[in-house]
Amino acid sequence: MLDGCGREIDHLRLSLTDHCNLACRYCVPSGARPSPNMIDPSFAFELVKWLSVCHGIRRVRLTGGEPLLYGNLVPLVRRLASLSDLREITLTTNGQALGRLATPLREAGLSRINVSLDTLDPKRFTQLTRGGCVKQTLKGIEAAVHAGLTPLKLNMVVQRGFNDGDIVTTAKWGLEQGCIVRFLEVMPIGPLAHVIDAHLVPAAEIIERLSECFTLKPLKQPLGQPAVDYAVRAGDLRGVIGVIAPTTQPFCERCRRIRVTARGSVVACVHDSRHHGLSHCWDGQRFDAAEADRILENAIMEKPAKGPNSQTVTMISLGG
Ligand code: 5AD
Repeated sequence: MLDGCGREIDHLRLSLTDHCNLACRYCVPSGARPSPNMIDPSFAFELVKWLSVCHGIRRVRLTGGEPLLYGNLVPLVRRLASLSDLREITLTTNGQALGRLATPLREAGLSRINVSLDTLDPKRFTQLTRGGCVKQTLKGIEAAVHAGLTPLKLNMVVQRGFNDGDIVTTAKWGLEQGCIVRFLEVMPIGPLAHVIDAHLVPAAEIIERLSECFTLKPLKQPLGQPAVDYAVRAGDLRGVIGVIAPTTQPFCERCRRIRVTARGSVVACVHDSRHHGLSHCWDGQRFDAAEADRILENAIMEKPAKGPNSQTVTMISLGG
């Protein structure tokens, strides 16, 4: 599938629910969570089947909200794993409920996962997530590594004044667990974008902090991957650290993504407020692929060359 700028689109981020048990500041800046929506699991399956068979989608990332709160997650992953056109099914989670779900998800056919981990400090974790328990997430990470959901990537969104002092500690801990550790610049998205923007730590500064402790050697960037990865070393500790810089070094010209929200709308660009509804293409039994084709075509052709920064909803509604 080619968009209006000639970019090949083959990655889907599917938000299963905009419900979340946490309320991180970059995702829900006001702290007020939307009233929860859950996508119908049969609709979700038909959507992915249609996108993979008819439109060349090859990789699906399940997001939220918090996808582990989606009651039908394990059966849905099992059904998605039967789609032979898909190369990979991944998931991004806050890890709070991962302890008990890691093995069933792996057995259902999930390829690997990313876990959000913005600090290891219990108090700061609870403060940043507005109520989360870091121990639960660490238990979840351990269970996921044990279950083989690897390489497991840890996402740390760096926010000045909140967790910018935790970069090196998180990197070391993550590498010791055998994880890839990713540091993300915060993206100012949604109606309170300026509040988020005030806490931006640019990638150059993140790398500077890491360089004080690690030697970093840049690795080749695979197609469709926004992160710049480094082979790192500090004494006996080795591994891979990545930096994702959507704000100071946008990667729009290499973007291969579309999103579908838990309300069943296509969103072609995370920064663009145009949402293209697909829910009327599903009557509970039958998926109207002809109508969906027409809507998708419009969305893809309108995908902006780069973000106009007009997004009116926050990440919890878009799918992180
Ligand atoms: N800026 C950067 N990353 C974000 N995420 C969500 N909101 C933002 C934002 N405003 C990403 C983080 C998190 C995942 C769920 O979504 O990587 O770990």
